[in-house]
Amino acid sequence: MKSIRKAVFPVAGMGTRFLPATKANPKEMLPIVDKPLIQYAAEEAVAAGIDTLIFINGRNKRSIEDHFDKAYELEAELEARNKDKLLKLAQEVLPPHVNCIYIRQAEALGLGHAVLCAEPAVGDEPFAVILADDLIINGGRNCMEQMAEVYNEYHGSVIGTQTIPREESDKYGMIAGSEVTSSITQVAQMVEKPAPADAPSDQAVVGRYILTPRIFDKLKTTGRGAGGEIQLTDAIAALCNEEKVYAYSFDGKRYDCGSKLGYLQANVELGLVHPELKDEFSDYLKNLKI
Ligand code: UTP
Repeated sequence: MKSIRKAVFPVAGMGTRFLPATKANPKEMLPIVDKPLIQYAAEEAVAAGIDTLIFINGRNKRSIEDHFDKAYELEAELEARNKDKLLKLAQEVLPPHVNCIYIRQAEALGLGHAVLCAEPAVGDEPFAVILADDLIINGGRNCMEQMAEVYNEYHGSVIGTQTIPREESDKYGMIAGSEVTSSITQVAQMVEKPAPADAPSDQAVVGRYILTPRIFDKLKTTGRGAGGEIQLTDAIAALCNEEKVYAYSFDGKRYDCGSKLGYLQANVELGLVHPELKDEFSDYLKNLKI
């Protein structure tokens, strides 16, 4: 069985909920305290043993490539000023054994289409997909590490899920199936953004997947679905008919950083545990009067 070596990061969405911040920058470059969302996602993948990061870029592609590239001028300047700690931060965005590949999604036709764009770089092996705007924090093994363990044990595609209030089902892909363990379900049904009355359960798909390469065949024949977009959920629903697909209810707290409220919550909660800021920031919040 092949292990998971590659992760796909779709970063070509329009990010309309964050305009004007996302007019010239992808939303995945928005920082949580002092680190862009995409770096949290890359670190999660690397900690799970992944060494090839495949970014599916859209029109605002420069900043993500620059972020993971060497910044010669900045590094020279910091070195000249003996700012060793800052130099380390700029240099150690990724460990040296990790490679980055960039692929252009010419038109934002949907998440499913973005994943299909990764096929030439992924080839015939299982791979991870991480949506960086779903930030998942866990003090122990991170979400992708947990999912890789599930993949290694069950040898099938694994989808990260979370229980949500049913009335929010129209914002998510929703799953239903048969229970394997208290945290693992074999998926029988998957629907993208159903109305609460049509939702098959209260288990929502969040932005973490491990997929077998057969998903590419399914994506090639997936037409436009919810919102007129080529949906990854529809292709996974088709995959369920041919292979075992597991939903895994991960351990960890998820922040929906694609929404303004989730983004602010992540900044506040991570600010409150940030080593340099926590005391001052917590005093500030305690004394805040508006
Ligand atoms: P979202 O559904 O959050 O869409 O995409 P969005 O367009 O980025 O944001 P809003 O709703 O307009 O504010 C989920 C993920 O899929 C990527 C996005 O970058 C995000 O990581 N995506 C979406 C693509 O890479 N390509 C697409 O065509 C659509």
